[in-house]
Amino acid sequence: MLAILLAGLTFGAPAGATPPDHDHAPPQHWSFEGALGNFDLAAVQRGYLVYEQVCASCHGLKHVHFSDLAGMGLEPEAVQALAAGYEIRAGRDLSGAPKYRHGLPDDAFPTPVRPVGVKEGVMVPDLARQALIYPGGPDRIYALLTGYSAPPAGVPVPPGLFYNRFAAGRVIAMKPPLHGGDVHYEDGTAASVEQEARDVTIFLAWVGQPHLAERHRTGVRVLIYLLFLIVLLFILKRRIWSHVH
Ligand code: HEC
Repeated sequence: MLAILLAGLTFGAPAGATPPDHDHAPPQHWSFEGALGNFDLAAVQRGYLVYEQVCASCHGLKHVHFSDLAGMGLEPEAVQALAAGYEIRAGRDLSGAPKYRHGLPDDAFPTPVRPVGVKEGVMVPDLARQALIYPGGPDRIYALLTGYSAPPAGVPVPPGLFYNRFAAGRVIAMKPPLHGGDVHYEDGTAASVEQEARDVTIFLAWVGQPHLAERHRTGVRVLIYLLFLIVLLFILKRRIWSHVH
């Protein structure tokens, strides 16, 4: 009898002992979270720089137009100059080779056709909505960007993949994109890996929902309006009923 019980216990054990497929990303403090959260536009601009200088060679932002960047505090001329720095596909020439032109404010961010350093057949996700759809959200994007390390002893990493304890299955086909000093911040912020990761994550959260501040302001206005209405109705009710005794 005891033997059967023990057999049952040991039989059940392996299922419960399966390690999780990746480590849980430590929660970060983000200024854009919470009911009255707001974006730090200086951080959004720094994050854009990281995207432009590092991520854009592999990842597109297909739902984002250059003109949307006006929302992070850029003047129209700056948006135009920034757009002109990107190459946009513009049909083919007579020999069939693709033609390119400079970007215009109304264009969307292009998706790189042949990202350098990515093996054939590996899908590179678009980052326009990544902060919203990536399981674990901004916390995990930050953790992923700062989470590369040598694998623990005895853990094999297949060729072409990199060990990262926050990636699904703890390996990822993206080689470590940040090394520190990848950008030069105009505002003097030191460009450590953590700082770059934090800023680009904030930028990705911002492109996912650039109208957050506006929505919150509308929300507060609606609340004030409702409160006003309640007070008004209360006074009205007292007035009307004051004649009835
Ligand atoms: C050399 C090309 C390259 C660069 C540069 C690059 N990535 Fe990636 N990225 C990839 C590839 C390839 C994948 C798909 C990985 C996979 O499926 O294993 C990926 C996946 C991702 C993912 C999804 C991760 C997942 O678990 O699926 C995020 C988020 C991401 N990249 C963010 C960034 C950010 C932010 C930058 C800039 C700091 C960046 N990447 C720079 C190639 C790149």
